[in-house]
Amino acid sequence: MLFHQRGSKVKRSVLAVILASTLCAAPGWAQVFAKPETAVEYRRSALFLMGNHMQRIKAELDVSKPKLESIRASATLIDTLKTVPFEAFVPGTDDVGDTAAKPEIWTEPERFKKLAGEMQDRVAKLDEAARSGDLAAIRSAFSEAGKACKSCHDDYRKKR
Ligand code: HEC
Repeated sequence: MLFHQRGSKVKRSVLAVILASTLCAAPGWAQVFAKPETAVEYRRSALFLMGNHMQRIKAELDVSKPKLESIRASATLIDTLKTVPFEAFVPGTDDVGDTAAKPEIWTEPERFKKLAGEMQDRVAKLDEAARSGDLAAIRSAFSEAGKACKSCHDDYRKKR
């Protein structure tokens, strides 16, 4: 009797493992990243670069003769990177590594995606303004882009 019970327990756990391995055959991060921490590193790296170049633009806008070439280079880089971080907000990466991502990203994916889209539109406008060379247009596009970054951070990024 005891043996029989044990046997069914073993069978059940074997079944559980098989089920788990079919259900979790491809966790979100596994399609592109070796481990979930790699996804965190990837998105943080892209966001770090975007932040760094937003700061460079700000530094130019703060001086009396902003270097347009520098602003253009940064705006183009930010525009190029604007979708990159969002490849890496994949399921299973909400509480790994050194992430500041809030779990609500995965429970409110539509809203998160919408905020990402708004930022991407504004970053494209910033790039356009930078190409035009019109400083007033650059200032306004920069401020709008910055607000779009902030509105997502306010809700979906933990304070470090
Ligand atoms: C749709 C949401 C969203 C938008 C829009 C967004 N971010 Fe973020 N950002 C995040 C989240 C979430 C994190 C935390 C990522 C993590 O730690 O895994 C983050 C982290 C960062 C970081 C820290 C990177 C690091 O070193 O860890 C910087 C810098 C940053 N974002 C810059 C920006 C800039 C600049 C913009 C606008 C051009 C922007 N973000 C737009 C969600 C967003």
